Amino acid sequence: MNRKISASILNADFLHLGDALAEVVPLVDEIHLDVMDGVFVDNISFGVPVAAGLRSAFPDSVIDTHLMISTPHRYWQEFVDMGSSIVTFHYEATDHSYALLKQLRAAGVDAGISLTPATDARLLEPVKEFIDRLLIMTVEPGFGGQSFEPAMLRKIERARELLGPEVDIEVDGGINDRTIADVQSAGANVFVVGSFIFGAEDRAEQVARLRDALR
Ligand code: DX5
Ligand code: ZN
Repeated sequence: MNRKISASILNADFLHLGDALAEVVPLVDEIHLDVMDGVFVDNISFGVPVAAGLRSAFPDSVIDTHLMISTPHRYWQEFVDMGSSIVTFHYEATDHSYALLKQLRAAGVDAGISLTPATDARLLEPVKEFIDRLLIMTVEPGFGGQSFEPAMLRKIERARELLGPEVDIEVDGGINDRTIADVQSAGANVFVVGSFIFGAEDRAEQVARLRDALR
């Protein structure tokens, strides 16, 4: 199973975002974009123009777009058009996950669906064949820098049993050099890391610590 580190820019210095990413992009596998609308979560981050700017600055990167918005059906196409590689919406935000997963795949991106901590992964059983990536939130979505919730390890294990080996299982929230090995053992293979990378002086050293912990 392909292990990937997806760097979340949410806690980066937005005034110097390009410089920070120029340093981090060669070290990681994906850029994770946390799009927040102030409705689905109690925070507002950034939207399509910032995402499009990053796409043109980093044309070869995998862009992993995480939509924490209450109207994903209204905005997914714009995040496909700006060049996302993966678009993930929240199961809790729509009654039409099945349609949205199919639309994303048909549009040529990986179809991602995310669950907040309280949502049972078994709810995805009827649509599992349409999922390319499941994003399991290991904190309540909305803010970077929160503590990893260990109760999510069992959920990751169950999700891996449900989805089988081919689907990406991504974890997001509180991932650092101490928590990454446990989520990997539970069955996750994509690791979103925000403040552990962007909150440090030596970002290369932080990514090296993550890779060491995964060994
Ligand atoms: C939280 C976001 C995360 C967050 C991760 O709602 O989805 O991607 O930025 O940040 P850390 O790694 O600091 O928990
Ligand atoms: Zn995220």
